[in-house]
Amino acid sequence: MVKIRTFETAQLATVYVAAIIEALITAHEHPVLGLATGSTPVQLYRQLVEFHHQGLHFSHVTTVNLDEYVGLSADHPQSYRRFMYDHLFSHIDISPEQTFVPNGQAVDLAAECARYDKILEAHPIDLQILGIGHNGHIGFNEPDQALQTKTHVVRLAEDTIVANTRFFSRLEDVPTQAITMGIQSILQAKAIILMAFGSDKAAAVRRALSGEVSTSVPASFLQMHPQVTFVLDAEAAVEMKMLGRDPIYSALEP
Ligand code: F6R
Repeated sequence: MVKIRTFETAQLATVYVAAIIEALITAHEHPVLGLATGSTPVQLYRQLVEFHHQGLHFSHVTTVNLDEYVGLSADHPQSYRRFMYDHLFSHIDISPEQTFVPNGQAVDLAAECARYDKILEAHPIDLQILGIGHNGHIGFNEPDQALQTKTHVVRLAEDTIVANTRFFSRLEDVPTQAITMGIQSILQAKAIILMAFGSDKAAAVRRALSGEVSTSVPASFLQMHPQVTFVLDAEAAVEMKMLGRDPIYSALEP
């Protein structure tokens, strides 16, 4: 059963997740973190950078990112590789060879997907961090009649493209395709934390936890994983009551 931890604020929720990552990094010899981009984990990365300034080392950590836009170069301001560099990698002691993000500029996208699957096989993820799209997507696994299991190229859903326009000056500049880890690759992580903040995520969170598993809500597949925690702020948890689960606010101790 999916564990749900609800905090009054996104900030408290973020500190909770950062502490779990800190404990993992401290305890493991070669931890592998699965990472997400987007607005949800920005504060998490800031907190990890803060921990680094206080003495937490990342030199033994490997990171594997969920996804990347097709067509954007690694240093494009909106590429996910650049996002990770700006928000985390450039501020911590991790070498670029230990950080994996799909190459959105690969000439042969199918070969790039196969290469990324090999990377995932070689680096089994200890903890996967996820956000959730308004339509219930995880990574860029969009609602569809069938979901793909492994790394693949997706055409982004219209509402995802529209949601992403805030990061681009013109609608025409928003990428329409991405490379993403598949649902099975995500479910292979030993533990998964999905973070969701704000009232605009409440419906997606409820649908993901409704008890049904459906390709129309990709995040609902997380219900099949033995070690998943949804970490929510009060606003993202408001629809939990509709599932008969009253949000009980957590204190900070894990
Ligand atoms: C990003 C990713 C996406 C986001 C989701 C939520 O790497 O995989 O699934 O987690 O679109 O995005 P934000 O956090 O911007 O609301």
